[in-house]
Amino acid sequence: MSGLLSIQAVSKRFGDDRPAVDDVSLEIGRNEFFALLGPSGCGKTTLLRMIAGLETPSAGRITIDGEDMIGVPANRRPVNLVFQSYAIFPHMNVLQNVEYGLMVVGAPKAERRQRAMETLELVQLADLARRAPGQLSGGQRQRVALARALVKRPKVLLLDEPLSALDAKLRDTMQTELVHLQRRLGFSFVIVTHDQDEALSIATRIAVMRDGRVSQVGTPRELYELPASRFVAEFIGRINLFDARLVATEGGAVVCDADELGRVAVTTPRPAGGVVTLAVRPERLRITAAKPAGDVVKVAGVVGDVTYLGDAVRVALTTPQGRRVLASLPNDGRLGESLPEIGQTRWASWAPADMLVLGD
Ligand SMILES: Nc1ncnc2c1ncn2[C@@H]1O[C@H](COP(=O)(O)OP(=O)(O)OP(=O)(O)O)[C@@H](O)[C@H]1O
Ligand SMILES: [Mg+2]
Repeated sequence: MSGLLSIQAVSKRFGDDRPAVDDVSLEIGRNEFFALLGPSGCGKTTLLRMIAGLETPSAGRITIDGEDMIGVPANRRPVNLVFQSYAIFPHMNVLQNVEYGLMVVGAPKAERRQRAMETLELVQLADLARRAPGQLSGGQRQRVALARALVKRPKVLLLDEPLSALDAKLRDTMQTELVHLQRRLGFSFVIVTHDQDEALSIATRIAVMRDGRVSQVGTPRELYELPASRFVAEFIGRINLFDARLVATEGGAVVCDADELGRVAVTTPRPAGGVVTLAVRPERLRITAAKPAGDVVKVAGVVGDVTYLGDAVRVALTTPQGRRVLASLPNDGRLGESLPEIGQTRWASWAPADMLVLGD
């Protein structure tokens, strides 16, 4: 992957508090749809603002296409930022809003008009070019904000929770549109979100942030299948966690003594420390009425919730010790006619190979 945006050991300190961004290094390639994901206050916006030139790093270096960005003012950087709460000018029509981005950089009028119309076509708003923002839907307004950022043809488009103000259905549509737009334009998008489903479904790679630091970087699949820590495992998708202690190493496997599961041998890379977490994704579980035989990990519980989702059925068991175990069963006919019912006692079981051993 050829590096386009390079973030090298960047930190940002506001006053004496612990740093908002703490020694972050990331390489983002051309043509990537990169997502920054993490809980509120973990430093996502601050990092974007430093890339955009709206905030100065306390330490570290940022380069775009090999060019050092330190000292380059925001309006001279080959990047554009679409804000968390999109600001479009209410007194200008759609076309004028989009042209405005080019006015600031001094493009001639004829060129402004042509490029603005091209960009509006890209976001499917050409028909509404003369509308006032007040006559647009939320999704249309968001597309105006996008068009205004795109019209300058930045090398990197930064999007700070661009879809958070939209309702679920519109957000879905806009996610797909963003992905198509990114593929068609071929430049890099960096999107900030605290919605893990959004990150998983649209990003080529994701950085999970925690307390100003990057916890893990990987493709959606890598983060989901091989989370490096309990934090990442819990943040990306649903997961069942069991506290455990390492008791032995046998061949390639580690043997753990886990709460409610007993002795379990697992063959995944072993994290440091003796106290670990065993983890298994809900879709790896089977639910049976009879106690399963053979080499499986199993736990019994009372069915507390059954959620019918159409393509899957989610079943939550509560164990005698009060732990909630979540199973996601594909609706592929395997369920037969009878779904588990609330109040029944059922066994959840899975293959030892489906377990992960996680450190903190
Ligand atoms: N201008 C500022 N002055 C002082 N502290 C700030 C400033 N901007 C951000 N911070 C602090 O830096 C930390 C990171 O903030 P940031 O806005 O980057 O978080 P975020 O990950 O974008 O969160 P959210 O998901 O809520 O938008 C927070 O603790 C915040 O209070
Ligand atoms: Mg933010």
